[in-house]
Amino acid sequence: MTAKQDMSCIVAEPFGVETYELMKSLLRERVGKKRFEHSVNVSKVARRLAKTYGADPDKARLAGILHDWDKGLSNEDLRDRAQDLGVEVDPMVLTDMPWLLHGPTAAVALAREYPQFGSDVFQAIARHTSGAADMTPLDAIIYIADIIEPDRSFGDMEGIERLRALVGELPLDELYFQAFKYTLEFLISTDRVLYPATIETWNILMRTHGHIAKHHINIWDMPAVD
Ligand SMILES: [Fe+2]
Ligand SMILES: [Fe+2]
Repeated sequence: MTAKQDMSCIVAEPFGVETYELMKSLLRERVGKKRFEHSVNVSKVARRLAKTYGADPDKARLAGILHDWDKGLSNEDLRDRAQDLGVEVDPMVLTDMPWLLHGPTAAVALAREYPQFGSDVFQAIARHTSGAADMTPLDAIIYIADIIEPDRSFGDMEGIERLRALVGELPLDELYFQAFKYTLEFLISTDRVLYPATIETWNILMRTHGHIAKHHINIWDMPAVD
């Protein structure tokens, strides 16, 4: 397939299966085998979540396969790429947690090369690393799919099983709240430095979802699903 043909498929049907397969084959050249398989899983889970929650499944599938587009880059390369692309970066992220940059850099790079995918897809990719307080359904779907995809093998597995069991049981914004909370609890339990914007996001979510947290407090006593 020539580059011209590639582009024509993206222009004709940016969320079609041909474009998905093309981007998948390009991703395969950018990341290792495990990351590639993770991305395929995320795209499948994102598609399922979109169907469950009334979002666009094809768009979710594409955002899922692209979310870790820059994950194969080293911390040094991510810093350089952020600078080259003019990505606005918190100085603390540059010094203490450059790996968080792989969402924002991928979003900007992909937007330049493939503008047909649209700002909602790029935003979902940019936000999958840190979340936000005002997530769109697509943002939330990619964030959640990244955590609950079936081969996820690190973190608090019981917590992940509980999240998986809540799919379809909770509205999407509440599921996102629980997923964000899971991430925060994991970061604290493993003694990680917290990105200040993450704490700010948590505080905003507590203002908007605090009642949900209290309402669903017994969920965390539910047995894990096999
Ligand atoms: Fe990622
Ligand atoms: Fe990921």
